[in-house]
Amino acid sequence: MLNRQGRPTAAGEAGTNAHPTFTGNKALAQIEPLIFEIGHHETTGVDLDEPEAFTPRLGGLERKEAIGLPGLSEPEAMRHYVRLSQMNYGIDTGLFPLGSCTMKHNARLNERMARLPGFSDVHPLQPVSTVRGALEVMDELSRYLVTLTNTTTVALSPKAGAHGELCGMMAIKAAIEAKGEGKTRNVVLVPDSAHGTNPATAALIGFTVRPVPARDDGWVHVDDVKKLLGPDVAAIMLTNPNTCGLFENQVVEIAKAIHDAGAYFYCDGANFNAIVGKARPGDLGIDAMHINLHKTFSTPHGGGGPGSGPVVLSARLAPFAPVPFITAENGVLTLVEQAKDATEQPFGRMTAFHGQMGMYVRALTYMLSHGSDGMKQASEDAVLNANYIRASLADLFSQPFGDKPCMHEVLFDDAWLKDTGVTTLDFAKAMIDEGYHPMTMYFPLVVHGAMLIEPTESESKASLDLFIAALRDLAMSAKKGETERFSGAPYHAPRRRLDETRAARTPVLKWTKPAPFAEAAE
Ligand SMILES: Cc1ncc(COP(=O)(O)O)c(C=O)c1O
Repeated sequence: MLNRQGRPTAAGEAGTNAHPTFTGNKALAQIEPLIFEIGHHETTGVDLDEPEAFTPRLGGLERKEAIGLPGLSEPEAMRHYVRLSQMNYGIDTGLFPLGSCTMKHNARLNERMARLPGFSDVHPLQPVSTVRGALEVMDELSRYLVTLTNTTTVALSPKAGAHGELCGMMAIKAAIEAKGEGKTRNVVLVPDSAHGTNPATAALIGFTVRPVPARDDGWVHVDDVKKLLGPDVAAIMLTNPNTCGLFENQVVEIAKAIHDAGAYFYCDGANFNAIVGKARPGDLGIDAMHINLHKTFSTPHGGGGPGSGPVVLSARLAPFAPVPFITAENGVLTLVEQAKDATEQPFGRMTAFHGQMGMYVRALTYMLSHGSDGMKQASEDAVLNANYIRASLADLFSQPFGDKPCMHEVLFDDAWLKDTGVTTLDFAKAMIDEGYHPMTMYFPLVVHGAMLIEPTESESKASLDLFIAALRDLAMSAKKGETERFSGAPYHAPRRRLDETRAARTPVLKWTKPAPFAEAAE
């Protein structure tokens, strides 16, 4: 069925249109074409005066013709984006079980604080004397991060977890170079189960990655690490709790072995939300660790990054932190902006400015509103919720490392789907029909058909029970051979199953006018 724009309707695509409508809309489930398809070049939502005649000064580089942006009236533009947002799934619409991504509730109090004009209107080029309050926030946040991790300092400027990894590893590289070992120590150990950003970071700054092979219990073993150590090893990048949802039970021994070999311990702290208030990474021997503020301290997550991934550093690496950093001069906070004003500053700064003020305010609000007992309880509840799901599904789903307690996320494999004709991907698509965002699939790579579920502490028991019931119902359906429920899923989403391979191989990154539209527009 075609809608009034001549495009297939959502209902038509979904193939479940028992009662077709003229518009293609299904009551509140509205379809929405691309803005290019509904906009008109002659329409504008703003009323500006014609510019006065002027002489171009771009030396012939100025635009010669209209760029063809679609115009909409204000209500049309508003409706377009609101409708698009309603086709999306978010933490404010339902449980978001993505493991390793930690979609937890973003408290509205955080948002309110971040919108205070003194924070939201602050400009990075304002004189320091006019932003003392902002510096106080950054300083207080830094002190909490350092206290919770028992480290020496923190670099606030990295803009995401992966950027924090880069910062921490650059500090390690700088420290190695300062010891005159820059040419000899060029290997970084990375477990097979690591997030892809770990080896990518190490390779980006010129290290060779030496994998630590996965074991069938999900843990990294100190004996394996020792076998790979040598005078060429600069660091290990170890995630703790790891991507299999387990606390590395030999982490202290691994840290010792790494230090004895003259190397540094980078900890991927993406999963810090499982241990806040319970264990301090500094006590475990880490030298550098990034903290994804969006995962642990409830800042918004989306659009490819949280906008802030501070890195805590041990005393050994503190002198190699990038600028800018905050310091107190005669009791007044100020910023050290220039590398020459710091003791050791081999790589200067990570970003043009200091970081993401909005995230700092939100994270600090979360910390202050929870208090130390509340943050600890959030970690305990996150772990409890993951284990509740694990225990409630253990009879139907299979676990790659046996039925043992997990941290904040529970990992299943696809062994239980063997001979059902249903894959992890099919199962995830059927979850969409049940109104849930799928869990993380096929990660970590060391587990076949991985399904990584992280409920977070935000979910109530009632919400978890419904989620568990839905997953059990799907699992029993798969085991009963009701493959149709899975093979065509999602049946009820605005778009059906997309051809991900084609999308990846031949991505369409630019909109081109379809011929009939071009004719109609002329
Ligand atoms: C274990 C782990 N490390 C690193 C990262 C990278 O963090 P970010 O997405 O903030 O760059 C992630 C992100 O999901 C992760 O799960």
